Amino acid sequence: RHTTVGIIGGGPAGLLLARLLHRSGIDCVVLESRDRSYVERRQRAGILEQGTVDVLRACGAGERMDREGLVHDGIELRWNQRAHRLDFPALTGGRRVMVYAQTEVVKDLIALQLADGPPLLFGARALAVTGADTGRPAVRYRHQDREQTLTCDYVVGCDGFHGVAREAVPEGVRRTYTRSYPYSWLGVLAEVPPSHDELIYAHSARGFALFSMRTPTVSRLYLQVPNGTDPADWPDDRIWDELEARGAIDGPWKPARGPLTAKAVLPMRSSVTEPMRYGRVLLAGDAAHIVPPTGAKGLNLAVADVTVLARALDRLHRTGSTELLDAYSDTCLRRVWRAEHFSAFMTTTLHTAPDQSPFDARLQLSQLDRIAGSPHAAAELAENYTGLPLT
Ligand code: FAD
Ligand code: DHB
Repeated sequence: RHTTVGIIGGGPAGLLLARLLHRSGIDCVVLESRDRSYVERRQRAGILEQGTVDVLRACGAGERMDREGLVHDGIELRWNQRAHRLDFPALTGGRRVMVYAQTEVVKDLIALQLADGPPLLFGARALAVTGADTGRPAVRYRHQDREQTLTCDYVVGCDGFHGVAREAVPEGVRRTYTRSYPYSWLGVLAEVPPSHDELIYAHSARGFALFSMRTPTVSRLYLQVPNGTDPADWPDDRIWDELEARGAIDGPWKPARGPLTAKAVLPMRSSVTEPMRYGRVLLAGDAAHIVPPTGAKGLNLAVADVTVLARALDRLHRTGSTELLDAYSDTCLRRVWRAEHFSAFMTTTLHTAPDQSPFDARLQLSQLDRIAGSPHAAAELAENYTGLPLT
């Protein structure tokens, strides 16, 4: 079997790339190791930057998002028993974000692809990518108990942090930069309306807490917990008590409680693999880089990568020029490192590390006071959070 662009991974990056290529008349095949319902149920990100919203709309995947997504004009920061709101449109010249879960983005893209898109094979696990530095790269994969080969003009690794495509870049060429954090997140879904109409990021000496949402009736909540935490050690009451203590401000605020589902512990890591291209193999999304979730950048970076890549492949298809493709890695990495910096900044400013000194805690509080007191500091956060324009 042969295709122009072989895409490994049917997460947001792979599915959106397939959609964009289809609209450019470029054929492709998506190989996804899991089944459809697993991919559609995986609880992950919830915040779409303005640029992500624009791309989804432009490729015809924005209809339900525009009906059901929640437009947010700001977030609230809490520390030292006080709250400060950041007004995004005022600080950024009109940019905002959208609350619309990754599960829903993925469902919408899968539905479009199965209706009129290029082939999407579930249960197709890529085993290895070969021939990256030849004119005819190939993906070996297992589907329906048979090992098969997909030959391609280009292979794109959208197979996430644990994927195989990254290994197509030889060790001598590949450089990986990483940082790990001495804490994790316990994430839960709660069947209760959100206690505030915007997201709340709370710094506290007990640890970080984030009050987010999925819909007007479902809350998404996160607590900083020690690495290695077992969710079974966190019964519902303990989670609510801790959320309430960490979110406390002067005044009567308390989160409304409800039944909790989907308890899971997520590790926090930063990692970037360079370059994002080797020969005819390109990496996009989590396959090339991950961020700690505090800045809500992971999904948005994946969307930015494939948007840049789809433009480059479209240019090649229409004119034969590889100029944009040759610039792909550098173009993406500039944005990736900005998001890495922002995500690390949000993470280290808002979490309380187990070995944190009182001096470091004072620096965090000073930084939060600065954001509350200076429109310049607030605008720096708001610009990064709502997302920088695509090139
Ligand atoms: P993925 O979504 O990981 O998709 C990769 C796909 O490739 C998967 O469907 C996988 O099954 C498939 N695959 C893997 N290996 C193979 C193979 N060998 N062959 C075929 N298919 C393969 N971001 C936020 O902003 N906020 C959050 O709260 C948040 N929470 C997260 C929680 C978790 C547990 C994780 C892992 C990530 C979270 N993220 C969050 C980050 C965000 O979800 C990711 O950045 C985003 O999913 C990246 O999309 P992607 O398509 O690049 O990768
Ligand atoms: C969500 C996750 C984040 O990491 C974040 O910064 C904001 C929201 C969420 O899952 O809703």
